[in-house]
Amino acid sequence: MILIDGKKIASELRDDLKKEVSELKKKFNKVPGLTVILIGDLTPSQIYVRNKEKSANEVGLKSEVIKYPDNVEEKIVLNKIKELNKDDTVSGILVQLPLPKHIDKQKVIETITPDKDVDGFHPMNVGNLSSGYDSSVPCTPLGCYLLIKKIEPNLSGKKAVVVGRSNLNGKPMAQLLLKENCTVTITHSKTSDLKGECLKGDIIVAAVGIPELVKGDWVKKNAIVIDVGINKTEKGIVGDVDFDEVSKVAKALTPVPGGVGPMTIACLLKNTIECFKRNEVSVD
Ligand code: GUN
Repeated sequence: MILIDGKKIASELRDDLKKEVSELKKKFNKVPGLTVILIGDLTPSQIYVRNKEKSANEVGLKSEVIKYPDNVEEKIVLNKIKELNKDDTVSGILVQLPLPKHIDKQKVIETITPDKDVDGFHPMNVGNLSSGYDSSVPCTPLGCYLLIKKIEPNLSGKKAVVVGRSNLNGKPMAQLLLKENCTVTITHSKTSDLKGECLKGDIIVAAVGIPELVKGDWVKKNAIVIDVGINKTEKGIVGDVDFDEVSKVAKALTPVPGGVGPMTIACLLKNTIECFKRNEVSVD
C-alpha cells in the first residue's frame, strides 16, 4: 500500500512555488500578496490562519492578516473587502470560515472580486469550474486532485466516488474529476447504499465529516482513497476513513493528519500566485 505523503508532496509544491515567486518578482518587480480576514477567536480558525500566514511568508508572498472581533458589523467587513478589491498589492483575499451568525456568508463571498477569490467560492468561479473554463478552484479539492494525479496520472474512464456534497469539497471535487474524464458519483449521508456505491470506486474521496465512516469492506481492492476528514474523537483526530481497515485493501491512502491538510495550504499559495498572474497579464 502506498501511504500518500501529503506533507512531502506539499513541501515539494511549496519549493516550486517559491521559485516561481522569485521569477515573478524579477519579471514584475513585485510579489503576489495574500490577505486573510479572520473574524472572532475560534481556536481552529486561528491555527489555520497562522499556518496560512507562515506558509505564505515561506514561499516569499506578501502576507497580511486582518483581524476583527466576533461582534464586528457586517458593513465594516464588506467595506474592507471592497477596499482590498481595489488594492493592487493584494492578489488574493480569503475570509476565514465559519463566520459569526450575524454576518451573511454569501454576501461576503460575493463581495470578493472573482479575480482575487483564492478560495474559488464566488459563484462566478463555481460556474467557470463547472463549465470547464479557467477559474480559481477551492484549495482542498485541488490538493486532493494533485495527490490523486501523483498516484494515477491518467484518470480517464476511472470510476470516482465522492462522499460528501459540500460547496467547499464534494461538489468542486466532483467537477475536477469529471474534467479528467472520470465517471463520477456524488454520494452523501442520505445515500441509500453508501457501501455499495463506494465499492464501485477506483477512486474514493471521503469528505463527509463522519469519523471512520468508510470501512475496509466498502473499498474495492487497489482503489485510491483520499481522506478529507478531520474529526475530533476520544482517540484523537481521525479522518472519514477507517485507516487500519482500508490500508489493507487500498492501493494508496492518505493519512490524517499529514495527507490532505498540508496540500490545502500549499494550494492556497498556488491559487494566490495564479490570481496574481491572471491579473498582471490582464493589466499588460
Ligand atoms: N475554513 C475551513 N476551510 C476553509 C477554506 O478552505 N476557506 C475558508 N475561507 N475558510 C475555511
